[in-house]
Amino acid sequence: MPYFEVDPDKCKRDAICVAECPARVIEMKTPQDPPTASEDFADYCIRCGHCVAVCPAGAFSLEGMPPSDCPEIKKDLMITSAQAEQFLRSRRSIRSFKKKPVEKEKLETLMRVACYAPSAKNMQPWHWIVVKNPDRVKELAGMVVDWMRDVIRQSPDPAAVATLARVTAAWDQGEERVCRGAPHVIVLHGQRDWGYGSEDGALALAYLELYAPMLGLGSCWGGYFYTAVNGYPPLARALGIPEEHRAYGAVMVGYPRFSYRRQPTREAPRIVWL
Ligand SMILES: Cc1cc2nc3c(=O)[nH]c(=O)nc-3n(C[C@H](O)[C@H](O)[C@H](O)COP(=O)(O)O)c2cc1C
Repeated sequence: MPYFEVDPDKCKRDAICVAECPARVIEMKTPQDPPTASEDFADYCIRCGHCVAVCPAGAFSLEGMPPSDCPEIKKDLMITSAQAEQFLRSRRSIRSFKKKPVEKEKLETLMRVACYAPSAKNMQPWHWIVVKNPDRVKELAGMVVDWMRDVIRQSPDPAAVATLARVTAAWDQGEERVCRGAPHVIVLHGQRDWGYGSEDGALALAYLELYAPMLGLGSCWGGYFYTAVNGYPPLARALGIPEEHRAYGAVMVGYPRFSYRRQPTREAPRIVWL
């Protein structure tokens, strides 16, 4: 297939694909002709799929992304604004988990959904590591504590701000506060030199965290964990993260022990209207 194909019988010549293409690489030579690729299509198409997704006639087929692979957005599955607001406002970071491990399919679903997050230039730069074995999670948490002890020795001031000594003291008392006893940790990593890695990573993990409760799961950002991955090579090696990659985030995942009943308050948005 060339870059894309347009079914001339289905195409309504409405030029919606032309208008919506973010890279401006789809053209219509005349109002009667179906859309064609611009000369620089290959250089600038970011394969976002807007062309396939927006065509009301289902006439647009991007190479490797036919409309048949792109499920329709079903009106009866749309949620109301009240449902959406409660859904967004009731997500919580979960720090008490059941011992029950999470099914592999559920973990996979989390990551598949997370990959629908926006990413700069649609790079989808995400690589995932799932620590499936709860004993391994604990072992890795112990490595994070080792890293914390180094930081406390070498950089006492930042260590105090990050309250690392409380975490190491808890560890010494037998309480694991790094991964919070979660059965699994998901680490997101990607090319070290990708300038938007942090944003893309945070967005994907935000999607993952928002979707997790829909599968009965709870999650929590592992800030200590992924900071340690980037600051402590033995931990990065234990996870098998390639040298040219860095961690862009990590979340603990498991079945929550408790359910939440209320939405807490938040600070009002600090807005300047211009
Ligand atoms: C970048 C980032 C790092 C975080 N790191 C940790 C962490 O290491 N351990 C932890 O228990 N919670 C961590 N959290 C969770 C925050 O404490 C939590 O999001 C915040 O208290 C708000 O609560 P909520 O998520 O339940 O709304 C982190 C959150 C973010 C966004």
